[in-house]
Amino acid sequence: MKIITVANNKGGVGKTMQCYQLACHLAHKGHKVLAIDLDSQANLSSTFCVQIERTLIPEWLIGDVAFEDILVPSQGKGSLHQNISLIPASRHLANLSKLLIMSEGEIRKNAGRKERLLKKRLDLEIVRAKFEYIVIDTPPMLGDELIMSLVASNRILIPTQAQDYSIDGLEELMDTFEIIKETENPDLEFAIIPSMVNPRRKIEKQRMEELSQMFKITPAVRNLVQMQESISTKKPICAMGKKSNGHQDYEALWTYLEL
Ligand SMILES: Nc1ncnc2c1ncn2[C@@H]1O[C@H](COP(=O)(O)OP(=O)(O)OP(=O)(O)O)[C@@H](O)[C@H]1O
Ligand SMILES: [Mg+2]
Repeated sequence: MKIITVANNKGGVGKTMQCYQLACHLAHKGHKVLAIDLDSQANLSSTFCVQIERTLIPEWLIGDVAFEDILVPSQGKGSLHQNISLIPASRHLANLSKLLIMSEGEIRKNAGRKERLLKKRLDLEIVRAKFEYIVIDTPPMLGDELIMSLVASNRILIPTQAQDYSIDGLEELMDTFEIIKETENPDLEFAIIPSMVNPRRKIEKQRMEELSQMFKITPAVRNLVQMQESISTKKPICAMGKKSNGHQDYEALWTYLEL
């Protein structure tokens, strides 16, 4: 079982897009996929057509609710969705950090440190037997959700826009990555994915070059209307024609990442 987190503390860089397309791509290939929405905006949940009143993620993490009881099948149309289950979010997840502080004693008894909570909940035979891949969407901040996901994951995918502020923000995320790697998860790998790229803009091309001098970067995903349509019509890029630009960008990306 491989666990992949999509993260960037900067907002609106295409995290949820990447998560949705990756989960659908893996499911389309026949893999059993669990998508976890750790963002209180619940964008990933709604893209899988799942809306819930109140998420039970905090209770599940603390240990009061069982894994089977928070799983929801994807409600998306098309046969690939039969391979996707979801742990959905709701606005209530914004209270996660507060709830974790309130349950500190219980957490210490059961999992040791709160950073390890998600790893502990996923590192179970019942999870491994059901899923080959877990894809996690995270909120745009360096909070408990992101830290927990990094501790639990094999890989972190970092969509990044080729703009000044995005590149500046990356340093903070990479510092966190290094700390987690040194202290909790030595095998954690990362990949920086240029996201929503407009290759015709000179300034973006220049920023991409700067980015590639700082880090090894993957093939880019372009800024395409088709991507927005994919989300609004809830039709993943892998279900679109092979000749489409979006399909080609994602195929190149998944091939590069060996996914
Ligand atoms: N490659 C792309 N081309 C065009 N539009 C895109 C692309 N990727 C994402 N978008 C659009 O950009 C917006 C932000 O994307 P998305 O919601 O995936 O970002 P995010 O990083 O998850 O945001 P947040 O930090 O708020 O969770 C959405 O409207 C999405 O449809
Ligand atoms: Mg998002």
